[in-house]
Amino acid sequence: MQKKPDPCSFIIFGATGDLTHRLVVPALYNLAAGNLLPDKFCVVGIVRKGMSSEQLSDSLMQGLRKFATRPVDEAVAKRLFECVTSVEADPRDPASFDAMNERLDKLEKARGTGGNRLFYLATPPSAFLPISEQLGRTGMLEENGAWRRLIIEKPFGTDLASARALNSALLKLMDEHQIYRIDHYLGKETVQNILVLRFANGMFEPIWNRNHIDHIQITVDEKLGVGHRGSFYDATGALRDMVPNHLFQLLSLVTMEPPARFDAHAVRSEKAEVLSAIQIQSEQEALSNSVRGQYRTGRIGDTEIEDYLKTPDVRPDSSTETYAALKLTIDNWRWAGVPFYLRTGKALTTKRTEIAIKFKQAPFAMFRDTAVDRLSQNYLVISTEPTEGIELQFNTKVRARRSTSTASR
Ligand code: BG6
Repeated sequence: MQKKPDPCSFIIFGATGDLTHRLVVPALYNLAAGNLLPDKFCVVGIVRKGMSSEQLSDSLMQGLRKFATRPVDEAVAKRLFECVTSVEADPRDPASFDAMNERLDKLEKARGTGGNRLFYLATPPSAFLPISEQLGRTGMLEENGAWRRLIIEKPFGTDLASARALNSALLKLMDEHQIYRIDHYLGKETVQNILVLRFANGMFEPIWNRNHIDHIQITVDEKLGVGHRGSFYDATGALRDMVPNHLFQLLSLVTMEPPARFDAHAVRSEKAEVLSAIQIQSEQEALSNSVRGQYRTGRIGDTEIEDYLKTPDVRPDSSTETYAALKLTIDNWRWAGVPFYLRTGKALTTKRTEIAIKFKQAPFAMFRDTAVDRLSQNYLVISTEPTEGIELQFNTKVRARRSTSTASR
C-alpha cells in the first residue's frame, strides 16, 4: 500500500493564474480522488488583490470542472476546496510576508499540519527570486522540526549564466534538498517506462548504441496555440519553454548509461553525465543545425487558429519562436556519430509526443528484385500522445496470394 504523505500546507503563489487552474488543481484533485493527500492538509492560495477564500475556491472549482482529467466526484472536490484559504502577499511589500507567516502559523495550528510547508511557485519566472527572498527573510524556509520545500516551475533562468545565478541565489536561502525544479514530463507513465523498457529487458540494451541505431527523433507537437499565456510565452519561446526541460528529460532517459541503483541521486548523475556529453556547437553550427518558426493564421480541422502576433499580450512585431527544431550529437562511446533530432511547436496539426528510434538497415539487400525489396525501416516508437504505447516496427513477408485452384483444393 502507498504511504500517506506527511501532513502539510500546500501554498500556491500564482493561485489565480492559468497554470494553477489548468494543471496544479486538477493534479491535486487526482491525488485527493486517489486518497493520496495527507489526512491533515490545506491549500493556501496567495493572491495579490483582495480576494476572499470563497471567491478563490469558486474560481479553482471552475478551473477543475474545465480542466479535470477524470470525471469530478463532487464529494471529493468539496472536501478539497473547503480547505482552500486565500492569503494576500506581494514580494514588493515585505510586511505582507510577515503577515502571511503569522496567518500560516495560525492556519496550521487549526488544521494540524505540523508546520510542514510546500511552497509552489506557479508564477512568472521573474517572481521566483523575489518570493524566495521574502520566504527566506521571514524564516519560512528554516526547517526546525518541520520540513519546508520550494517547487519552482520553468524556465529556470534564460541562459546558462542566469540559471547559475538563480541557482546560487536560491542556495543561499535554503539547502538543495528543499528545492524541487519541477518537470511534469517525469510524471507521465510512458516516460517513467523508458528506463524500465531499457533496463528491465535484456533484448534492447545490446543494440542501444551507435552500432545499431541510425538516429533518434524526439517530437513534441501541440495542437493548441498560445492562448491566454501570451505574456509568459512571448518572453520565453518554444525553445526555452520545452527543450531544456521536457525534451532534454526525454533525451537523457533514452541516452543515459544504466545507473548503479534506482534512486534519485544515481539516476540524476547518469542523466547529468550524458547531457554534459552533448557536443557544444559554434554559433554558426547551431544556426545551420536548427530551425525556428512562428505560426500564422490558419485552420486545424474545424478550429480557426489566430495569428500568433494577434495573441493577447504578445508584441505585434514579436520574433519569438513557436516552433523549434534542432539537431545535436552526443560525444561518448555509445552515441558518437548518431544524430538526434528534437522538435516542438504549437498550433500544429496533431498533438503528438513521441521518441522514434530508427535502427540501421539490414547489412545487405538479400531480397533485391523480389516483392520485399522495398523494406521499410525498423523503428521503435515510444509515444505518450495521442496514445500511450511502445511500438516496434519490423518487416515480415507479405503473404503469398493463392491461385483459385490452390485455394479450392
Ligand atoms: C508546459 C509548457 O511545460 O508543457 C506548455 O509550458 C506546454 O507550453 C506543456 O503546452 C505541454 O505539456 P503536455 O503534458 O501537454 O505535453
